[in-house]
Amino acid sequence: MTQKRILSGMQPTNQLHLGNYLGALKNWVDLQNEGSAECLYCVVDLHAVTQPYDRDNLAKATREVAAAYIAAGVDPAKSILFAQSSVPAHSQLMWLLATMAQMGKLDRMTQFKDKAGKNAEKAGLGLYAYPVLMAADILIYNATHVPVGEDQKQHLELARDIAATFNTRYDVEHFIQPEPYIMGAGTRVMSLRDGTSKMSKSAESDMTRINLTDDADLIAKKIKKAKTDAEPVPTCEAEFEGRPEVKNLMTIYSALSGEKMDSLFAQYGGQGFGDFKKALVDVAVAHLEPITTRMNHLMETPDEIDAILQKGGEKCNAIAQPFLNRTMDIMGFWKIQS
Ligand code: TYM
Repeated sequence: MTQKRILSGMQPTNQLHLGNYLGALKNWVDLQNEGSAECLYCVVDLHAVTQPYDRDNLAKATREVAAAYIAAGVDPAKSILFAQSSVPAHSQLMWLLATMAQMGKLDRMTQFKDKAGKNAEKAGLGLYAYPVLMAADILIYNATHVPVGEDQKQHLELARDIAATFNTRYDVEHFIQPEPYIMGAGTRVMSLRDGTSKMSKSAESDMTRINLTDDADLIAKKIKKAKTDAEPVPTCEAEFEGRPEVKNLMTIYSALSGEKMDSLFAQYGGQGFGDFKKALVDVAVAHLEPITTRMNHLMETPDEIDAILQKGGEKCNAIAQPFLNRTMDIMGFWKIQS
């Protein structure tokens, strides 16, 4: 049986938020603690430069995301933590895979359309090729499982597709087709102000999201101001109909507390939102405050974070480089005869 290997990553752009935490990071920690797989978690800094970014802040943002991983429970003694740019084989494999990623399929990537917006003609090639680099991140380790939020499903399908194309073209069983792990109640956390759009780092208003760096007062303020409606708290699933913001808040509560939705209907259903929101603030603060505190503490010793990333990078290079060499052998590239 194939050894289970997990890989995932986040971009060091702006602050990590509750969506990143519930959709991915929390699950990474659970998977690590299950102990049945080797876990590789990277900070995808090469992806972060596909859109305008702050050069003076990139290295710090990379450390900060690594600190968030550790603060949330990723343990460098159990998982490998590294920066994508420190393992050149990711970019090298990306080029090779780019030769078999079909333009028609890339054209259908919804994230590119969202990010490029109306000005797609002016978008960089890197933004367009983003999913191919993501495929390389995964395939360079032959990762079997990729824990991500729902928005990454399409990218994962492309990675599976590219793996299959390579295997067919060269008549080998070289790449494993990675399985997405889209787990838990918070696979798609929505904006606090608009239940039809996803909570995102790039949304203009900070009031739309809860960041992992927000303190208790700010979390309370954002939840108090979160959009609801004039109806009471639902008593059953059917009453979510047409109320995406309400559904989102209750989903966040359930995902953070581990309580089933039925139990929330029983406790708060039929009441106004006041008590529910107060309870949600308590749950969110109890869960997030220790993470924020640990993160701030870790950021006081950036050298220690750097040492963890460096060690992780070395381990990954030791896995990735020989695998890249084998991939190039299969493709027939020249090499010095030993
Ligand atoms: P990024 O940085 O945009 O998001 C990181 C992770 O957070 C999840 N996520 C959400 N989950 C639930 N609700 C939300 N509102 C929400 N917003 C974000 C994302 O699904 C993701 O799991 N392309 C990836 C980064 C990447 C990657 C990889 C992931 C690059 N290479 C290889 C896995 C494997 C991304 O967009 O990250």
